Amino acid sequence: MENFVYECPAKVLFGRGAAKEHLGKALSAYGPNVMLAYGGGSIRGNGVYDEMMEILRAADKAVTEFRGITPNPTYAKVQEGAALAREKRIDFILAVGGGSVIDCCKVVAAQAVLEEDIWDMELVRHRLPSVPPIPMGAVVTASGTGAEMNGGAVITHEEKKIKTGIFAAAPRFAVLDPEYTLSVPFSQVISGAFDTLSHAMETYFGRADRDNVSDDIAEAVMRNTIRGMRALLQNPDDYTARSNLMWDSAMAENGILKCGRATDFQAHQIEHQLGAYTDCGHGQGLAVIHPPLYRRVCEKALEKFARLAVNVWGVSGEGKTERELALAGVEALADFIAKCGLPLRLRDLRMKGEPEKLLTDSVLREISDSCNLIQTGQAGVSHDEIFEILKECL
Ligand code: NZQ
Ligand code: ZN
Repeated sequence: MENFVYECPAKVLFGRGAAKEHLGKALSAYGPNVMLAYGGGSIRGNGVYDEMMEILRAADKAVTEFRGITPNPTYAKVQEGAALAREKRIDFILAVGGGSVIDCCKVVAAQAVLEEDIWDMELVRHRLPSVPPIPMGAVVTASGTGAEMNGGAVITHEEKKIKTGIFAAAPRFAVLDPEYTLSVPFSQVISGAFDTLSHAMETYFGRADRDNVSDDIAEAVMRNTIRGMRALLQNPDDYTARSNLMWDSAMAENGILKCGRATDFQAHQIEHQLGAYTDCGHGQGLAVIHPPLYRRVCEKALEKFARLAVNVWGVSGEGKTERELALAGVEALADFIAKCGLPLRLRDLRMKGEPEKLLTDSVLREISDSCNLIQTGQAGVSHDEIFEILKECL
């Protein structure tokens, strides 16, 4: 294995009633001024807001609300939150939501203590913050991204048309109550779970030593994610499936699968730029991109794709060449995406405008040319190939 340092600061508080049982104590380690951050209001409809307020009151916290964080959180919203955190002298940020709320808060926590603009600092001057961020914790209400267990955040700069990762605060704790996810629209549940599968696949398809325990764990996470998604398609309220998917999500992005190996994440880079131009849902965008991307790269990485076909999709190797096996695995993924009811084409994605106007050749060209190219995958693609992939997905 390659050398690595592994550290995950998030304490995990998992299970039914986890907030009631643990959150008050977890908050007692921090100062009195708490920012309660959330999205468009789903937590007000499902009782989570009331539960949070009750716990915060019982813990004697002075609460400042920071609301309205949208899916694909923006740089502008980060700056709004950072200004509020400074003004109210916030001691702790409690992010209650899915990946978007958590990511926005991670960057708010880092930006609030910096003199410099964090975007310019990291992405223009290529320096990381050295001042410790405001401590924060996450209460996950929609799982899939695994954002609750890492220090990276994905932010969209609307003017620059860039959606990209920023190194920011890592949550000190993560409350994972699978029952909080029961009110998530089903399409978002499946989209989130597909994001988890994508994280594990994209890690698996990074360059790695041949014998790597991280790959074996990734296979188990992928199998369990697929099983959980199939179970939810039969019974959306299946607690066992929801709880497994919630932990799969955290496992796929808490760094464990990345130990001792490089990662790929080319599909994510394409989705991020697609999101910057269309505001599409993250997991749904990935579902459209993965099959055509993998049909292309699997030709250059037959051994690893064949292994995935057998160990994750259960494809029989009998009578098949390595190439046939590898391609059968990619088609098993494509069939699974279709059976899950995930979008199959770009025009089926939810977007902030009309697909005909947003998905023109010139826009697809801009999206392709602005994607980061990953050099650490099993096989890379060029900007021209990304353009062809996006055209295939139309
Ligand atoms: O805004 P609210 O009202 O909360 O509604 C949200 C939102 O509309 C809703 N929702 C969340 N919990 C709910 C609920 N609705 C009903 N009941 C509940 N319990 O779900 C919608 C989607 O939420 P969002 O947070 O956007 O979804 P997701 O968790 O998929 O996060 C996506 C964002 O995370 C980034 C993505 O790029 C995207 O911006 N990612 C973050 C990563 C990380 N930091 O490690 C890794 C990922 O690869 C990903 O890039
Ligand atoms: Zn993702």
